[in-house]
Amino acid sequence: MIALASDHTALELKAEIKKLLDEMGLEYKDFGTCTAESCDYPIFGVRAAKAVASGECDRGIVICGTGVGISLAANKVPGIRCVVCSEPYSAQLSRRHNDSNMLAFGARVVGPELAKMIARVWLEAEFEGGRHQRRVDMLAALDRREDLE
Ligand code: RB5
Repeated sequence: MIALASDHTALELKAEIKKLLDEMGLEYKDFGTCTAESCDYPIFGVRAAKAVASGECDRGIVICGTGVGISLAANKVPGIRCVVCSEPYSAQLSRRHNDSNMLAFGARVVGPELAKMIARVWLEAEFEGGRHQRRVDMLAALDRREDLE
């Protein structure tokens, strides 16, 4: 189950991402917003992030105008590793090396076809573990407010 969320700037792109998820046979839950009325991206980013952190959803895709605000909000939820990507290389490596569990887009930055390419690559890539696990464990320690050294 994929958690989706956006603000008002990204309703059309979110609809495109839903089409991709349908094509890929992946289920999703939309945590809003669902109207074009101006809204506050932290509300919706955090709703999706909490669903991922709790295990209700496996991963999440969140979208605002730049992808910045909604990713910052998602990353405030412990256990969330949300990356803003405008190209597929970082998206794929964020899965393979950082075990990213949320992807963010800027609807005013990427067009629908590029966004779908990035999302597909990100959804298909797997975490490699190994030496990367130690570093992801450090990120979890930072979530717990522990010192690394
Ligand atoms: C809304 O105007 C815009 O600020 C928001 O979508 C996002 O880009 C914030 O980071």
